[in-house]
Amino acid sequence: MSGNVAPTAAQAEWLASGLSPMAASLRGSSILVIAARVRELVAGGAEVCNLTIGDFDPQAYPIPTELRVGTKRAYDAGHTNYPPANGIPALRTAVAKMYERRLGITVDPANVSVASGARPLLFAAYNALVGEGDKVVYASPSWNNNHYTQIVGANAVKLPVGPEDNFFPKMEAFAPHLRDARLFFLNSPLNPSGTMIRREVLQELCATIVTENERRRAVGEKPLFLLYDQIYWMLRLGDVEHVDPIGVDPRMADYAIYVDGISKAFAATGVRVGWGVSPAPLAAAMNRLLGHVGAWAPHPEQHATAALLDDDEAVDRYLAWIRREARDRLQIIFDKVSAMADAGLPVRALAPEGAIYLSVQIDVRGWKAGDKVLQTTAEIGNYLLDEAGVAVVPFDAFGATHAQAWFRLSVGAVEREALARALDRVQAALGRLQRP
Ligand SMILES: Cc1ncc(COP(=O)(O)O)c(C=O)c1O
Repeated sequence: MSGNVAPTAAQAEWLASGLSPMAASLRGSSILVIAARVRELVAGGAEVCNLTIGDFDPQAYPIPTELRVGTKRAYDAGHTNYPPANGIPALRTAVAKMYERRLGITVDPANVSVASGARPLLFAAYNALVGEGDKVVYASPSWNNNHYTQIVGANAVKLPVGPEDNFFPKMEAFAPHLRDARLFFLNSPLNPSGTMIRREVLQELCATIVTENERRRAVGEKPLFLLYDQIYWMLRLGDVEHVDPIGVDPRMADYAIYVDGISKAFAATGVRVGWGVSPAPLAAAMNRLLGHVGAWAPHPEQHATAALLDDDEAVDRYLAWIRREARDRLQIIFDKVSAMADAGLPVRALAPEGAIYLSVQIDVRGWKAGDKVLQTTAEIGNYLLDEAGVAVVPFDAFGATHAQAWFRLSVGAVEREALARALDRVQAALGRLQRP
């Protein structure tokens, strides 16, 4: 047989030796490893409650009707050719106006870049700003910075964060890197913790970035930028306000790159519309880069998204609904974990603030399952999967080597009843362990 069929192992190894060093060492998501085990168990007939997925079940979380109908209408209207490389003007204007109405900040539509989701914008921002060996500083755990820094060959500096600071780094942690970093990264609400940065923390950081840039400008050094991923900001679930760099310090307009989109707030991960807002020269560079990759958001979806963002009534109605759906489920977990803690199990959860995630600590390190002592978070995760049919992601999957048995529980693909049953199974499984 000839054609593109599976090569022998030796041939595959030799062909792979032709990969670039970056591609050869780039890892896929470690969550996919857990997903593969879940599939195996489900295929074997087990009931598995999968809390690993950072996505939405379309049956439980349909996208807004306006988006679905608007996309179809845009296809019928023939919007099927290339969109402008930086996005259609109607969508860039809709984003700018929405930020003005909902965040109270002024944005020039010319500085809005549209792409097929938030990922290409993160990729473009990293590639536009960070050269080989440049220092990039981000919190650990956080989502995918380990991969993006690897792609651009950055000098990655991880700041370990924990529950005592709501999983956000304090200024003291950034301070040693202020002089020579090219990029700071923040994400709020944070994947994986579901926690949100507080105004005073962001304000202090922004003021420091501005002062540092005034110094750099005076001596002709390159500026320091803040990459701010706020993809979950419309999914704030409680009383904590969402804050953004320009909102807390208007001088940040020169130094902040926002990354955002419809994937999470409108449960539209497969629709692929994201946007960024950045200072003019950066927006232009990112647009050039994205143009060459061709990572445009689909043209009809751009029209439908523009119309949706312009429709405050539709957006508010949908957000009220999806926030309730996410919050109810997260609250079920929070209450149950709190009850388990009251019953003497070494577990705790942080109250839900935003996104579709809850941070849960399940610290049974050193406890025994039969003859086996559970030591690592991976072992604890596997125990819960095998013994309780519940799949969770350790914070290690987000680059946190120091995480003390914290896990991300995601509620985008689980119904309330299945969740309650699953948590009962977790309690029973933890109850079967022997304390050290
Ligand atoms: C923090 C964060 N940023 C960006 C993304 C990617 O968003 P998109 O699907 O729009 O590319 C995700 C997806 O999980 C995320 O968690």
